Amino acid sequence: MNKLLKEIYNMDKAAMKKAAENVMVGGGTRGGPILARGKGVRVWDIDDNEYIDCTSQSWALYLGYANDEINDIVRDHIENLTHIHQGFDSKPRFYLSQRLAQLAPEGMNRVSFTVGGGPAVEAAMKICAKNVPHARDFVCLYDSYHGTSLGSMGASWISTKANGEYMGGTSFLSLTRPFIRVPNPYTYRNPYNVDAETYIDMCLTMTREVFQRGIAGRPVGVLIEPIQASGGQIILPKRYLQEMRKLCNEFETLMVFDEIQTFGRIGEMFAADYFGVTPDIIVIGKALGGGFPLAGIIISDQLEGFTPNAEELHTFANPTASFVASARLLELLEEWVLENCRNMGAYLNSKLHELAKDYPEMGDIRQAGLHIGVEFVADPKTKETLEKETVDIRNAGMKNGIIFGLGGVRRNVLKIKPPLIVSQQECDEILEKLEKSMKSVLRR
Ligand SMILES: Cc1ncc(COP(=O)(O)O)c(C=O)c1O
Repeated sequence: MNKLLKEIYNMDKAAMKKAAENVMVGGGTRGGPILARGKGVRVWDIDDNEYIDCTSQSWALYLGYANDEINDIVRDHIENLTHIHQGFDSKPRFYLSQRLAQLAPEGMNRVSFTVGGGPAVEAAMKICAKNVPHARDFVCLYDSYHGTSLGSMGASWISTKANGEYMGGTSFLSLTRPFIRVPNPYTYRNPYNVDAETYIDMCLTMTREVFQRGIAGRPVGVLIEPIQASGGQIILPKRYLQEMRKLCNEFETLMVFDEIQTFGRIGEMFAADYFGVTPDIIVIGKALGGGFPLAGIIISDQLEGFTPNAEELHTFANPTASFVASARLLELLEEWVLENCRNMGAYLNSKLHELAKDYPEMGDIRQAGLHIGVEFVADPKTKETLEKETVDIRNAGMKNGIIFGLGGVRRNVLKIKPPLIVSQQECDEILEKLEKSMKSVLRR
């Protein structure tokens, strides 16, 4: 092994503690183990404790840890190139752009890359600004999350008091864009206690009012996560998205789908295929690079795109190693992984509903492919949130060898989003560890 790599791998706890003084971390659910190596859906910490990872590391490892297929293609490729500047063309960029255009909804054929989701959302905002004249304000939904870059942060719920406290996003309000927010059709709970269909109608009516009289000019664009992931795994109803499409057309503004978390994970490449609604701009990221950093946008043929006039210039927008990893990921998704995602998602969903018969605290189970959230409540009727208990279940999971995600603006949603290659046997293990963790917290 390389001498330097050996030195890094051999750092002991005292050396790490000292070095940690130099580390500044801006977010993430803290307090987890220090991870050392992984394979498939499993990861091991520095003390060799094993975990099944239901976070896929911020939902980015669709093919699991240290995937052989990705490692092989990247190993071959990096003998030639790893990164080249955006101004130079490369075969991997030609190939991946064409492949994504072929897979994207009809009429969406131009692709632009960044290395992070926040900058990709900003790229989508720039395209909106180029194409929608006499407009200033962007619209987003309550409880949305679109990143923490300065351009995207104002659109994220962390810039509100949604969860009862002013979070990090509000520290930078003087630097971030103001977004106009409209109610999200979170049909499981709504402030008016009306039924789901009525609430969808109310959200649409309130949004129409905002478009018409609550905003100067027309919206530059409307940012929507088809499934609000960070906000609590809230699956937006199909009818709502269809009606929003019509509203965007009527008000001559652009509809942007932030598919950074849904791309592939819902068992379809794109939300347009899943919901039957085609936006004007699609934003993708996280898993797109097959585990390597990559994000980007795909835009409608009807739109004016970027020109090479310094409109979108990033040093790392042409990472050829990420491009080849991404190309292999797309191939595998098509070959078998999307189907596995649909099957394992359906399997977990039915087993979770069985489990909910014994655990009424599992108030709502929301599943699309392997995009799964369980909302914990004290009582299914009152829907009072179980915030501390949800955190405790996640922590009990760590002790039981499983890493769950935690989310929702009310912090009471457990996220179960394993790599898309998860097997049925591994799903059984996830369910068994979940039950053990719930039992230790809810039946103590
Ligand atoms: C829907 C959505 N949009 C944007 C982002 C921001 O992406 P990144 O963290 O790569 O900047 C995230 C990240 O969690 C996300 O879930």
